[in-house]
Amino acid sequence: MSIYLDYAATAPLRPEVRALLTRCYNQDWGNASSLHRDGHAARMHFEDARERIARCLKAKVEEIIFTSGATEANNLAILGWMRQQPKGSHLIVSAIEHPSAWEAAEALSYEGYQLDFAPVSRDGGLDLEAFRALLRENTRLVSLMAVNNEVGTIQPVEELAGLNRSWKLHVDAVQSGLLGWPDLSGIDMLSLSAHKLGGPVGSGCLFLKQGLRLAPLLMGGAQEDHRRAGTSNVVAALALAEAMEVTRARRTEEVSRVTELRQGLEAELSDIPGSVRLGSQRSPHISSWFFEGVRAEPLLVRLDLEGISASSGSACSSHSLEPSRVVTAMGFEPEQARGLIRFSFGHGTTSEEVESVARRMRQIVDKARRQDGT
Ligand SMILES: Cc1ncc(COP(=O)(O)O)c(C=O)c1O
Repeated sequence: MSIYLDYAATAPLRPEVRALLTRCYNQDWGNASSLHRDGHAARMHFEDARERIARCLKAKVEEIIFTSGATEANNLAILGWMRQQPKGSHLIVSAIEHPSAWEAAEALSYEGYQLDFAPVSRDGGLDLEAFRALLRENTRLVSLMAVNNEVGTIQPVEELAGLNRSWKLHVDAVQSGLLGWPDLSGIDMLSLSAHKLGGPVGSGCLFLKQGLRLAPLLMGGAQEDHRRAGTSNVVAALALAEAMEVTRARRTEEVSRVTELRQGLEAELSDIPGSVRLGSQRSPHISSWFFEGVRAEPLLVRLDLEGISASSGSACSSHSLEPSRVVTAMGFEPEQARGLIRFSFGHGTTSEEVESVARRMRQIVDKARRQDGT
């Protein structure tokens, strides 16, 4: 029996979402832009999904733009906003953003925009003083994630939202399903993804505060009020709405259950010689570690042989041997950052699974250490 502890990479479908998808794919729907009755029915479902998502976020319906996921939402927010600003304008993204925000910002630096990466402290939280020092008169955008995907640290989104400012604030809230989505007052844009909440891959949205306009990335259609062209993905939108509603309804129960599971695992892991736990203020669903003298790769292989699925931080970069950018930004050595192992939990994780991993970890680390030749 395999044990899946990689919810931060993607969560298994929630049963409610699976049932919804089965129902949806057994129906023949029209194109939500068509004028006939099938198109009208599709449009009704699509707008119903938008309304439900807006209610979950306490947003207005016209503030929700459907996307193919959070990579697109992050790209749309950062590129779409900055490309309307004069060349030379300044933006700041934190040094621990997901590659979909980080690389979009980096692309802008090649287009003539000024970019700074805001540092984090060793505990994985944004260094607010250093951040303030980076602000300039021509700063137009700041992008900060609510919860980091590699180490789970909670970022000071509220503090930034409360600042007296002329720049816009974009928040990647992909990993804050368990903690709760941030209060939108003071936030201008916010990205979400269905598959981290028990929905399908390929579905997400961007909240865009009423009155703001973005330069679209996808052109060639009037969908999403000309902000994102392409035939409306009705099923993806409904699945996102369902995943968000179920996440919201179960939050209190899941937070306390997952917190307890993580505590049990962490008590065992911290007894392993040379183990280091990363991050202080964290979302309960992530527990990231390195074990002195062993790289992530042999350890993940060993875990996999034992039927345990964990990861080395961001799934997007886990096939590369590069040290984790997040862990080096926290001030650890590249050698240590190469050892990052992330366990992440969610709606389907059981205490038997976590106890079984906790019991076996010391031996697994020992074997991986020997194999790694250190
Ligand atoms: C913090 C964060 N932002 C963005 C993304 C990208 O989301 P998607 O897979 O929907 O493109 C992820 C997924 O790994 C993530 O963890």
